[in-house]
Amino acid sequence: MPQEKIVGQPMLRKEGVAKVCGRAQYIDDLTLPEMLYGATVRSSIARGRILGIEFGEGIPWDEFVIVTATDIPGDNEIALINHDWPCLAAEFVNHPEEPIVLLAHRDRHLLPKAVAAARVSYEEWPAVFTIEESERGEPVVWGEDNVFKSFLMEKGDVDAMWAGADLIVEGDYATGAQEHLYIENNGAIAAFSPEEGLTVWGSLQCPFYVHKSLVKLTGLAEEKVRIVQVETGGAFGGKEDYPSMIGAHAALLAMKSGKPVKIAYDRAEDMAATTKRHPSRVRHRTAVTRDGKLLGAEIEIALDGGAYSTLSATVLSRATIHAGGPYFWPSIRVRSKAFATNCPPHGAFRGFGAPQSLFAIERHMDHVAEALGLAPDELRRRNFLKTGQTTTTGQEIKENIDLDALMGRALKESGYHAKRGRFARQNAGSGMKKKGIGLASFLHGSGFTGSGERYLNSLAAMDVTTEGKPRVLVSSTEFGQGTNTILCQIAAETLGIDYEAVEMGPPDTSVVPNTGPTVASRTSMVVGKLVHSAAVGLKQTLLTSGLLQEGYTTGEFVAAARTYVAQHGALRAESRYQAPPGVHWDDQRYRGEAYAAYAWAVYVAEVTVDLATCGVEVDDFVAVQEVGRVLNPVLAGGQIEGGVAQGIGYALYEKVVLQNGHMANNQMTNYIMPTAEDVPPIHVFFEEIPFGYGAFGAKGIGELPHDGPAPAILNAIRDATGVGFRAITLLPEDLFVELAVREPVAEAAL
Ligand code: MOS
Repeated sequence: MPQEKIVGQPMLRKEGVAKVCGRAQYIDDLTLPEMLYGATVRSSIARGRILGIEFGEGIPWDEFVIVTATDIPGDNEIALINHDWPCLAAEFVNHPEEPIVLLAHRDRHLLPKAVAAARVSYEEWPAVFTIEESERGEPVVWGEDNVFKSFLMEKGDVDAMWAGADLIVEGDYATGAQEHLYIENNGAIAAFSPEEGLTVWGSLQCPFYVHKSLVKLTGLAEEKVRIVQVETGGAFGGKEDYPSMIGAHAALLAMKSGKPVKIAYDRAEDMAATTKRHPSRVRHRTAVTRDGKLLGAEIEIALDGGAYSTLSATVLSRATIHAGGPYFWPSIRVRSKAFATNCPPHGAFRGFGAPQSLFAIERHMDHVAEALGLAPDELRRRNFLKTGQTTTTGQEIKENIDLDALMGRALKESGYHAKRGRFARQNAGSGMKKKGIGLASFLHGSGFTGSGERYLNSLAAMDVTTEGKPRVLVSSTEFGQGTNTILCQIAAETLGIDYEAVEMGPPDTSVVPNTGPTVASRTSMVVGKLVHSAAVGLKQTLLTSGLLQEGYTTGEFVAAARTYVAQHGALRAESRYQAPPGVHWDDQRYRGEAYAAYAWAVYVAEVTVDLATCGVEVDDFVAVQEVGRVLNPVLAGGQIEGGVAQGIGYALYEKVVLQNGHMANNQMTNYIMPTAEDVPPIHVFFEEIPFGYGAFGAKGIGELPHDGPAPAILNAIRDATGVGFRAITLLPEDLFVELAVREPVAEAAL
């Protein structure tokens, strides 16, 4: 391991002191002079034509600013990939909670009454609410066939392969929606004047996404639109797409009223109206030999994208690429489709399609193992990808990987084999509490898919302040995951100065270059590398200027930088993305280097299933992963622990109940998330294999830990009960239905 002093160390969070002292300012802490508050009138039906809007009695409507679609100066759309997502419904609505009218007033307490008094009348049309209904196309609610996007990914001769199979194993799997439950709800403030243009401050992940969308919406010149991220209380993908919507709403109200306008959702509105994880259905058909070699597979993926296409094409792409798991497939065919339904659009959520397809393959692998009479770890071991082999997209693994070692470590740290034997003996007794242990092995691509990083063409910069302090200039945002800290660690290490001397520039589109969105496990690996190169440039400039000599101290560096700025006016270095060599991607055939690198993991869950209550407790959890070099062990550990906790919620607690497309349980009293009481000890281990093209050897880490917990937990439940559940969210009532009909459980339980 190289001798770094800052990278690899548990440096304190850059914004940590302000957060723990309560000084950090979130959207709802901020007030501007003359500021109004905004609120949204939403569709109460799933699909239909808007007939009229009536502003009912008892409200001083003349004091309100009222915005409808006709007030939009530019295009009525939230610009993402396609052009189908309206900012405000004009003539038709396609999901419950679709925004129709915006209201603003000085007194925020008047708003709920006004929203209730604004009555929209509709001609209601038939709608579709599930993947199956959408697939049947009765009715067609989007495009010609309800399909947002489809992929066909093929490797080898799948049709010929079946003949050589000793065994064919089939299985259907399903996952539900999931709400992000970031601590801070979505919120934005907008201010406008013809001279200054439009400024939007928001709780958000991707300032330049919001910028692009607002330029289209307002018709303003690019330099007249400025987006500033303020302190953001969690995001998990939930502030990747939606801030463009709430930011647009605040902007329209501000432009019409000439006053600053704040919109901050409460929890109920945030849960009902904003995006969630795509529900999925995945079908597997797998051919194996008697000695446990995977010969080939056919996988069919269907995602529920909700009413508009938003990011569904990219979510589907990730689901497709990850569908085969971390195994070598001589041949495989994956067909995938994202369907339209009349639910609020589903969007980005940590893992972005991969948790859905990895749940299916990792549950399925246990069924295949059972059919062969092999232990779950043994079947996986016989089929793990190795360096030099090709993935499902035909990408040759050039990284040095060792999945056997990850598996070995996970089995050892969890005491897997000893526990499996012991639990089996205990479970044979008459006790009502059954114990089980299960595992999942998986991978997650780092950064944008395929040619994505090349198209993004990210640019990072570093400059120095007039005091001589180096600043990191990126559009990558901090929302709790540690961006500020990691990027400052990389800059300080590269510059050879103290971590404390490096500052983060403001996340403001008028100041920083576009380093792309803060998504897709790309910040440490991709943006970190750019910051590293920019820091090298900064240091070179100072060394060649003669103001600084090798062997300098932090004080000498800062003094030299200050002098340089005084003499030349500015000191700045930039770095633009370059793909690692050998990264080629065919978007049509879905072949080639899907990612520059993957992170790899094996997770083990230990559970107790109480046959009396049908409750499941996760008792212990082991998470072993290889994410390249670990840049900050505390933050990296935090990413894993948080992802595991979220994965436990995904598997066992968090059920989004959609009734006619409307979230019926949009409150935390009956949308249950795991608390400290429900989260077991999580033992986190990193095997470090530095990746040559990531910053200081780093690969992506953010999304990986959400991929493995759900299948590991359901595999453990199968070990405990003998029932292989195939769908999540798995609630006690779902267990009851299966377990209550089994003797002697039924009598004992009742
Ligand atoms: Mo994300 S789910 O890549 O913000």
